[in-house]
Amino acid sequence: MRPMIPGETIFREGDIGDCAYLIESGEVQIFIEKGETEVPLRVLGPGEVFGEMALIDDTPRSASCRALSVGQLIVVTKEQLVDRVHKADPVVRLLVQVLLERLRSHNNHLKGKPNFGPDVPHISHAAVENKEALERIGLEDRISTALDNDEFIPYYQPIYDLTSGTIIGCEALMRWISKTDGVISPYVFMDVMEESWLILRAGRRMLEKALADLPVFAENFGENFFVGVNVSGRQFVEPGFVDHIENCRKLSNVKAPQIKLELTERIMTEGETAVQTMQECRNFGYKLAIDDFGTGFSSLQYLAQMPLTDLKIDRSFVLKMIEDDKSLSVIRSLIHMAELLGLKLIAEGVETKEQLAMLKGLGVSMGQGFLFSKPLPYEDFLMLAQPNKKRKSA
Ligand code: CMP
Ligand code: MG
Repeated sequence: MRPMIPGETIFREGDIGDCAYLIESGEVQIFIEKGETEVPLRVLGPGEVFGEMALIDDTPRSASCRALSVGQLIVVTKEQLVDRVHKADPVVRLLVQVLLERLRSHNNHLKGKPNFGPDVPHISHAAVENKEALERIGLEDRISTALDNDEFIPYYQPIYDLTSGTIIGCEALMRWISKTDGVISPYVFMDVMEESWLILRAGRRMLEKALADLPVFAENFGENFFVGVNVSGRQFVEPGFVDHIENCRKLSNVKAPQIKLELTERIMTEGETAVQTMQECRNFGYKLAIDDFGTGFSSLQYLAQMPLTDLKIDRSFVLKMIEDDKSLSVIRSLIHMAELLGLKLIAEGVETKEQLAMLKGLGVSMGQGFLFSKPLPYEDFLMLAQPNKKRKSA
């Protein structure tokens, strides 16, 4: 805390700044000097911040500040402020920098300094520095247009009953088939989508399409065939989420247990609403799986709170289980835990016969992975039904 007395100069234009201030009580005046005269900019009071500009982009103080009354200032250090700005979303960072540039240019204008001319670059410094932000905004725009054009479709990866060797379900995985650029990898768009509201539109679309395809799958693979649909935290806690699934389910006339919602461990960051929605889903009869299990910040306390039906063992453990004892130990303990909690296990990323044999030996009931099939478009996926049918009639 820094006390202030009326008339005191807190800092002067051009000084090097090492902290910003949050006004707890009292008032300050921000002003600039134009020749011999002072140009007042603002009077700031409790709750307002000043002195942040010098910290954010490492420039001298853009204005002077004087106390107008007795008061108290909370000192905000460079680390406290800059760390937060750097951690912010790149688009927010860009916006902050652009706004600072505008404010400076406004102050220059008041001082009669030129904002245009040979010495003043006319392209925003912030824009040049923030390619990442511009690329991200550009990609969001392309994704949004692609959603309008219905370019996101589900590919289906079969899930096998490891004991009988039959296909009992599938996971719907979002793919972007761009009309202009062909197939675009989820690595390119998934993070940007998940960090923005776009995931809500895309997620709804995936659910609708997957549930619309489900009756034909059930006809071909068996009446209890299920589809696993990935649901992001944001989407899961959106009001109306459960009603939307229920509407889609009624439209396609499938049974609730044929729908398996795949949630990641991060769902717990959505708090109490997430647990309530999970319970609601269970009341309707949908299955709930925790996806990529073992890679997030799983707390066993969280796990016990969640009304789950399935655990999906992350591919990273399956990949290493043959050579690496520790991965195998993790899998063993997951199996034990799943038993205690009454959960079914699905192994992800099954790629070799050795892994399959070992998983079967350990008692894992379901699996998916390249050993069986990569994710396929709807028509190709249906072709997998032929051996399934034969095996059933044999
Ligand atoms: P900084 O440049 O560190 O030091 C001067 C502070 O005055 C600046 O941060 C802002 O907090 C504030 N400031 C600068 N220009 C203006 C303005 N035009 N209106 C209000 N406050 C300003
Ligand atoms: Mg998944």
